[in-house]
Amino acid sequence: MEERISLLTLLCLAVTLLSGVGAIDVNIAKDVYEVARGDNIVLPCIFKPKTTPKLVIISWSVEAPQANAQEMLILTYYSSGAITDIKSAYEGRVSLDVDIAQGKADLKLSSVSLADNKVFECRVQIPGDDEGKTADTARLVVLVAPSTPICKIQGKAEYGQNINLTCVSEEGSPPPTYKWQSRDVKNLPRIPDRRTTDKGGILSLFNISKDTSGYYVCTSENKIRSATCNITLSVMPPSMNIGSTAGIIGGVVAALIILVIVIYCCCCRKKKKEEEYAMGVHEEEYRDKEMARNSESRRADGQEDTQGYDDSSMKNPTVRSERYEERSERDYDHRRDYDDRRSDYNDRRSDYDDRRSDYDDRRSDYDDRRSDYDDRRDRYSDRNERYDDRYDEPYDDRERAPASKPRRRDYDD
Ligand SMILES: *[C@@H]1O[C@H](CO)[C@@H](O)[C@H](O)[C@H]1NC(C)=O
Ligand SMILES: *[C@@H]1O[C@H](CO)[C@@H](O)[C@H](O)[C@H]1NC(C)=O
Ligand SMILES: *[C@@H]1O[C@H](CO)[C@@H](O)[C@H](O)[C@H]1NC(C)=O
Repeated sequence: MEERISLLTLLCLAVTLLSGVGAIDVNIAKDVYEVARGDNIVLPCIFKPKTTPKLVIISWSVEAPQANAQEMLILTYYSSGAITDIKSAYEGRVSLDVDIAQGKADLKLSSVSLADNKVFECRVQIPGDDEGKTADTARLVVLVAPSTPICKIQGKAEYGQNINLTCVSEEGSPPPTYKWQSRDVKNLPRIPDRRTTDKGGILSLFNISKDTSGYYVCTSENKIRSATCNITLSVMPPSMNIGSTAGIIGGVVAALIILVIVIYCCCCRKKKKEEEYAMGVHEEEYRDKEMARNSESRRADGQEDTQGYDDSSMKNPTVRSERYEERSERDYDHRRDYDDRRSDYNDRRSDYDDRRSDYDDRRSDYDDRRSDYDDRRDRYSDRNERYDDRYDEPYDDRERAPASKPRRRDYDD
């Protein structure tokens, strides 16, 4: 590279000697270019060669951050062969829009970052045309949109307090300016209190009251964009501070929990009762179902019976003709249905009768047992009588006396 440049310098000198003295004028239109971070930008560089040059060397570079440091080359363009050398640090991000005849050598820079916040220089070298202005510079200002600010309340939002509403954007280049706006609880813009101050994103509110409550919006803004955050301020009486509010809420919640438990317990008891009742009903249902099953099986028998009856009627030719002439199939079905239902009813009736007879049986059983008891009672009284008899008439009792009582008999004897 070094060799090439020195070689080219020699060439330039030679050309200068050949073509005589010229006056080149390199110019960048503006001193400062602003670009939002991430955007693309074109830095325009124009030059006015005196004659149509045989060779032009264009180079773009950034100025060194410190005075004693070397400037950093971005790219070099050689008109002979239209070669552009791009430094690896800028590879893929820069290109040169060049037109020698028009004297154009614009630098295209894409995806600008904060690192590109530097002074750029455009230099044009034409052999034999080194008089005049061979280079120009421009500052690139990379702007960063303000990030969404964060709104916060400093101090206690209670009557009579002094509080600050703060608003800060983490990012922003140039640094954003902040502005607070407020609306009251009816969402109407309000005239701020005389003592209220709005400085550097801090809104200071003094001796706040219920009227200070409302909606506060902060706008963070710089050259390229703006962003907002907001706060809803509700100023409470001193007694209604966070601690007591939490206490009240806690108390209410506890009361609610107790109430819920009590209600739940009551419900449980009621439910239990209902369940017991339902269980009784279930038993009933079970009995009913059993009944239904019985009646079903019996119904099947009934059907057979009807069919049997029908079959017997089919055997009678007069009946058969009657049926086919006067009665449709439907009627027949209806009849069968009716018969079924009748037999169902009969079944249920017989079931009922069964249960009744069951009951009667049990009753008679009871009666039997009762009569048994009565019998035994009678027998007992008989025995008593007999015993009495024996006392009265010992001699007559010999044959009747039971074998199980020999001692007595002995005594009697
Ligand atoms: C509010 O901001 C002012 C000025 O920055 C400061 O002096 C004051 O202490 C702040 N008040 C509160 C409650 O933070
Ligand atoms: C604060 O405001 C109340 C009315 O809201 C007023 O009575 C009181 O004097 C004020 N206090 C101060 C220190 O300004
Ligand atoms: C207030 O801020 C919230 C986010 O914190 C946002 O969703 C809402 O749109 C904002 N309201 C207004 C009116 O700016």
